[in-house]
Amino acid sequence: MEERFARAKKFSGRLGVPGDKSISHRALIFAGLASGTSVIEGPAGGRDVQSTAGCLEALGVKTDTEVGAKKLRVTGAGKEGLKEPAHQLDAGNSGTTMRLLAGVLAAQPFSCSITGDKYLRRRPMRRIIEPLSLMGARIKAVDEQFAPLDFTAGGRLKGIRYRMPIPSAQVKSCLLLAGLFAGETTTVIEEIPSRDHTERMLGLFGVEVDRKGNEISVSGGSTLKAADIRVPGDPSSAAFFAAAAAVIPGGRVTIENICLNPTRASFFEVLESMGARISRQNPRRQSGEPVADLTVEERPLKSASIDGGILPSLIDEIPVLAVAATQAEGRTRITDASELRVKETDRLAAVAANLKKMGARVREFPDGLEIDGPCTLKGAEIDSFGDHRIAMAFSVAALVADGETVIRQAECADISFPGFYTLLRGLCG
Ligand code: S3P
Repeated sequence: MEERFARAKKFSGRLGVPGDKSISHRALIFAGLASGTSVIEGPAGGRDVQSTAGCLEALGVKTDTEVGAKKLRVTGAGKEGLKEPAHQLDAGNSGTTMRLLAGVLAAQPFSCSITGDKYLRRRPMRRIIEPLSLMGARIKAVDEQFAPLDFTAGGRLKGIRYRMPIPSAQVKSCLLLAGLFAGETTTVIEEIPSRDHTERMLGLFGVEVDRKGNEISVSGGSTLKAADIRVPGDPSSAAFFAAAAAVIPGGRVTIENICLNPTRASFFEVLESMGARISRQNPRRQSGEPVADLTVEERPLKSASIDGGILPSLIDEIPVLAVAATQAEGRTRITDASELRVKETDRLAAVAANLKKMGARVREFPDGLEIDGPCTLKGAEIDSFGDHRIAMAFSVAALVADGETVIRQAECADISFPGFYTLLRGLCG
């Protein structure tokens, strides 16, 4: 499927975005491991979260409403109550599904296997296989690093102290989940903070998480009790609309109910530092997460430098930030971002190739990008490489380009944001 866009004459309105994807995955998994029934309000409706629900159902967890509906009721199997799946589990396109569930599967008294689509089967899994193996898990992978991952029913897991070589919330969460099944305490040490939804939410499910500086620990043998979770809007989905409002002349949108957890919200701070006018209304807390409504207004933008410890807190927003940078005065430099090469696709290469097609001045480095602006983009044929965030970022680029832009394989937006194109068009008037 393809989508076609031309320059937007206006961009304004009030909108909501789907529930946060990271929080939705965790709410489902924790509810599945809990005893009792949990209600998840406003979960993300995309295919990634459906993959997590499908895997949990195959493991004996009951979910009684379709993912994407307003409320999802999950009847947990209890931590010791998962059953052997009748078939191989399928994580689809979702790295979070595979890496988080790996922490659970490694501890089960049955053998099982998890696979994914062709993109996920190319993504690095050594980062979880190594520490899980140190805990005593027995995992086979293709070339010792790619899915499918086969778990052999094994002995008990033992707790470890593990310093993560790369900042990754998926690795951290995988190990904390495995740690719940271990004999001893498991401690994960992170040099650079990654998103902390797992730590926040485990507490709501009755698990004590000890956070001391950059060390996060859980006790082996902790059990989970059902909890009701209200999922706030996904800042990574909101970022496309914030960026569009910031670059389209006269743009102004209000995006309601956005999760502004500091480990997720740096995109909005960078956009503000570039000159966009951003205000936050009704700050509140929802299921342990800071939430607010955001209004973003267009103003002349200047370039930004993005490097070091800030990267994990805007990693998924780099493609759309690069698009915004084409409209900013000066040279935007993004470095220390080599993790983008192992996302759903190589996002540095995909952004550079598509921006070049649109006439932007962009240079690609092993760990980043340099973009010179401002620049009048021209409509082009965009290859999404099957990556939802590339498809959506370049839909925003299309709104400030001369002529028509065609987004190929546009349906991949459904991974995280069903209805994205309709919502985007609606704001263009
Ligand atoms: C996620 C963590 C990040 C992020 C991904 C979702 C999560 O990945 O890019 O979209 O929900 O834990 P890494 O853990 O690989 O950095």
